[in-house]
Amino acid sequence: MEKAKDLQIQEMKAPRLVMFPLPFQGHINPMLQLATLLNSKGFSITIIHTHFNSPNPSHFPNFHFESILDGLSDDQALDPITLISILNDTCQEPFQDCLSRLLSNGPDPPIKCIITDTVFHFTQAVADQLGLPRIVLRANGATTATATYKLLREKGYFSMKDQRLDSLVPEFPPLRVRDLPSFSTADLEMVYQLSIKMENAIKASSGFLVNTFNDLEPIELEKLRRDYHLVQIFTIGPLNKFSPGSSNSLLTQDHSCMAWLDKQAPRSVIYVSFGSLASISKTDLVEIACGLANSDQPFLWVVRPGSIHGHDWVELPEGFEEKTRERGKIVKWAPQQEVLAHPSVGGFWTHNGWNSTLESICEGVPMLCCPYLWDQKANARYVSHLWRVGVQLENGFERDEIEWAIRRLMVDTEGEKMRERISGLQEKAMNCIRKGGSSYESLESVVDLIMSF
Ligand code: UDX
Repeated sequence: MEKAKDLQIQEMKAPRLVMFPLPFQGHINPMLQLATLLNSKGFSITIIHTHFNSPNPSHFPNFHFESILDGLSDDQALDPITLISILNDTCQEPFQDCLSRLLSNGPDPPIKCIITDTVFHFTQAVADQLGLPRIVLRANGATTATATYKLLREKGYFSMKDQRLDSLVPEFPPLRVRDLPSFSTADLEMVYQLSIKMENAIKASSGFLVNTFNDLEPIELEKLRRDYHLVQIFTIGPLNKFSPGSSNSLLTQDHSCMAWLDKQAPRSVIYVSFGSLASISKTDLVEIACGLANSDQPFLWVVRPGSIHGHDWVELPEGFEEKTRERGKIVKWAPQQEVLAHPSVGGFWTHNGWNSTLESICEGVPMLCCPYLWDQKANARYVSHLWRVGVQLENGFERDEIEWAIRRLMVDTEGEKMRERISGLQEKAMNCIRKGGSSYESLESVVDLIMSF
């Protein structure tokens, strides 16, 4: 009988994979989840990482870590898109030097290929230079991979004036113009150039992995396969469930909230978190606090250090503490996947970063959507209008609308219907990663592809 594939791999002295995550929390998590999965298939793993936002090697004792200089100065407070453009320039030489050194290290197992984030487009040229195959991982969904900034600008959607923001984008139903990717930088030419380079580097790669699952984005995946018909595309999500417990939190997660959740009634708590990059104004914070207080719902609220424009912290509204002492808890950073899995959590007020969106679906928790930038608006639109497992706040943070939306999600029958629908998606997600499921089989094909190099 054919030996188990992972046994075959181990007998080949665990061929080595070199993996290179984009240094942002929402990209580090899926890359390290993938690394853990491939390690369990018998590969030895080397993680090359930047000094900026470097992962913690102690969480992954089986992996080898290599840090490279990234050319960033510690005080650089740049928006993520500008940072990405700089990193694509400053990391090329240190990355190539590091990879060349690893290749010349003789006795170590041979390097089968590199796996990098799609955003690090420069790595394709390095892979070509060193004669290594490159596989790319997309940390976001398929939808926003097709509705790329390049394509949408060439169709003129970014030159529209406000009056057309609510127009539907016929090529990408149910998206409206207002749901298309938006950016923190004013330099949209830089975004356009980045979009082109990423697209070309994906087309030149040896495989395109997407952290989604077939039942979630079937139509978008068909579009993606048409757009990238020369590259094999593998849906291997949801990685957070396929490889549980292998995230790498850059901030210390406050586990005291788990004991607090244990004291709450089932499905009574709304969990509030806007990811690792979003920031809000002091006025927004006050509106959120008043909306939570007036909703009478228990809440677990993540207020990430540095997430309030220009303030380390701000005073909460008069009377907020007294009014919410018994039913509210604020932490700086939470063990999010454990929180969403807790039976007392009945709703997730989120910015709809892709990982948060997938994690909420995988735990069957309906969402209150407050997208901020980039792919979040499209994700929120899909949650609220296509999958219909959430409610979207469309007019920013205003206490009365917040109170009303929380009640719709947590108390009204509408929230119950959303819970039923998201439970269906949750079951489909779990089926995809079980033996014989689409993501399970895709991962087996990825292993075969790597072993064919
Ligand atoms: C970024 C972009 O903002 C997002 O649009 C894109 O889809 C991915 O990259 P981020 O904003 O950090 O991501 O959000 P998200 O994708 O949700 O990733 C956040 C990660 O941090 C999640 O895996 C979540 O589980 C984790 N997290 C968040 C915690 O561990 N604790 C917290 O308190 C909050």
